[in-house]
Amino acid sequence: MDYQKIIDEVYHRVKAGENLGELAHYIPELTHVDPESFAVHLTSVTGEEYGLGSYQTRFSLQSISKVLTVSLAYKILGEKLWERLGVEPSGTAFNSLSQLEVDKGIPRNPFINAGALVICDILILHLKNPKEDFLSFCRSINNNQQLNYSEKVANSEKLVGYRNIALCNFIKSFGNIINEPEEVLDFYYHICSLEMNCQELSQTFLYLANDDFRSYDNDEILNMSQAKRINAIMQTCGFYDESGEFAFRVGLPGKSGVGGGIIAIHPNKYCIAVWSPRLNEKGNSYRGMKFLEWFTTETKLSIF
Ligand code: DON
Repeated sequence: MDYQKIIDEVYHRVKAGENLGELAHYIPELTHVDPESFAVHLTSVTGEEYGLGSYQTRFSLQSISKVLTVSLAYKILGEKLWERLGVEPSGTAFNSLSQLEVDKGIPRNPFINAGALVICDILILHLKNPKEDFLSFCRSINNNQQLNYSEKVANSEKLVGYRNIALCNFIKSFGNIINEPEEVLDFYYHICSLEMNCQELSQTFLYLANDDFRSYDNDEILNMSQAKRINAIMQTCGFYDESGEFAFRVGLPGKSGVGGGIIAIHPNKYCIAVWSPRLNEKGNSYRGMKFLEWFTTETKLSIF
């Protein structure tokens, strides 16, 4: 498969089209990026790399980080993890409060903000130094010591985090947040502010594509069954109320973030990261979605 040729062709086709949508204005610091940035990077399970555009420019992972936090929590707790949150698509926006009332504070899945806050609460209970330990976990996957949070982005979100404050307090009222909301929110804003470029992102997520993946220090990040399950949740919940659309058009497990990034996994073949900061009305990258739809169409490779 000539991945580079297909990436080149699809990238230019997408770039020649419209670039619709808005930056994530509700987090002021996220507006300080070039809205025309456009990057793609693919890493295959056999280690080949292909990319185009600004794939060495770091950006804010935002909700993409939630795949890493739930992976670490799953590694620590095993199946007990699912006592505190579900694995069902919500069909609602990422920051919705509406289902928590009927579901009595049990979030539908780990990728909506409510679920990610519960995962942060769990990690705070199990890690000695949550921020440092989570960062070490991310760095250890590919021995990438350059990875870091953006204090600017974390603080920017903290100043305007009214929705997340409401979510965290609401869940706590049902007893499904153990720590103080302030601590949970501070950790949450930090994990969302983690930065990577598309190359680092496609390398980091190989543990979900490759059954034999071992991190730099020879650790298994997740076992096969756990990796299968995280992929399944990405497939069904990775794009919130646009998850069905992404499955229909792209046909791969994936996860988006309001920084404009998307990671998609083709199990046993590759991880592909796309970054383009303009977001559609569901909060997913406009060009990222288009690129991946055409990329999977042109490669004619599918998990289905
Ligand atoms: O909590 C928030 O609103 C952001 N830190 C993350 C949201 C996000 O990335 C949703 N994904 N498309």
